[in-house]
Amino acid sequence: MTRTALVTGASRGIGLGVSRALASEGWRVLLGVRTPATAPALPAAEAEPLDVASPRSIAALVERLGSRGEKLDLLVNNAGVYRTGRAELWDVNLRGPALLTRGLAPLLSDGARVVMVTSGLGRRSVQSPAFLERLDRAKTVDDLLALAEERPGDYGATKAALDRLTALFAEKLKPRRILVNAASPGWARTDMGGSGAPRSVEEGVASILWACRLGPNGPTGGVFEDGQPLA
Ligand SMILES: NC(=O)c1ccc[n+]([C@@H]2O[C@H](COP(=O)([O-])OP(=O)(O)OC[C@H]3O[C@@H](n4cnc5c(N)ncnc54)[C@H](OP(=O)(O)O)[C@@H]3O)[C@@H](O)[C@H]2O)c1
Repeated sequence: MTRTALVTGASRGIGLGVSRALASEGWRVLLGVRTPATAPALPAAEAEPLDVASPRSIAALVERLGSRGEKLDLLVNNAGVYRTGRAELWDVNLRGPALLTRGLAPLLSDGARVVMVTSGLGRRSVQSPAFLERLDRAKTVDDLLALAEERPGDYGATKAALDRLTALFAEKLKPRRILVNAASPGWARTDMGGSGAPRSVEEGVASILWACRLGPNGPTGGVFEDGQPLA
C-alpha cells in the first residue's frame, strides 16, 4: 500500500532532499510549500500551499487534508529559519510545528512517524540553566505555545524548545504507536548552512531519513544526529 508523507519546507535544501528520497522510494509526498507554482516536480508528489508562520494557513491545510480523507504515515516538520528576527524565528521554528502537529494528529495513521528537524545549536548542553528550567516546566503544547509568544532567545532556543515539544508529542502519541523524534541534519551546505558548511546536503538529509525510517521498536521522544543521541 502506498504510504503518504507531508514534508514542510519542501521547496529547497534539506526538505527538498528528504522529499526526493521518499518519492524515489515509492512514497506519495505532499510538499508543504509557500509557493506551489514553483514547487519541485517529483514523481508522486503534490504541492500543498503552507506557510508555517501563519496559523490560518496551517488550519486551512488541516481542513483540506481532513476533508479529502487523507491519512499520513509520516510528518516531517522541516521548515525553518535562522537569520531573521525573533518573531519569525519563534513563529516558524516552534509555533508552526506545534500547531501543525497538533492539527494533523487525528490524520496520522497509527504507527506513523513524526520528525522534527532540529539543530545541534538547540542541544541542552549549550542552553542556560535558567532557560532549561523554563523548558522543563513546560508540560503541555499550550505551555510551549505561550513560550513562543514570549520569544525568550534566538535560533538555538527555538530548537531547544522544539526538542521539548518533540518529547511532549512523543508521550501524547505513544498509545497510538506513533514515534516522534527530533533529528538534526548537522551543519550542511544549504542556503541556510552556506557554502562553507562541512556537510553535504545528502549527509544532512540522511540524518533526517534515519528518523523517518525507524522500525516499530525504535526510540521516541529523542534528539538525534546521524542516528546518535545529541546531548
Ligand atoms: N543547513 C544547516 O546547516 C542546518 C543545521 C541544523 C538545522 N537545520 C534545520 O534544517 C531545516 C531545513 O533547513 P535548510 O538548511 O534546508 O534551510 P533552507 O535551505 O534555508 O530552506 C528552508 C526551507 O524552509 C522553508 N520555510 C521557511 N519559512 C517558511 C514558512 N514560513 N513556511 C513554510 N516554509 C518555510 C523555505 O521555504 P521558501 O523556499 O518558501 O523560503 C525552505 O523550503 C531547518 O529547520 C533548519 O533549522 C539546518
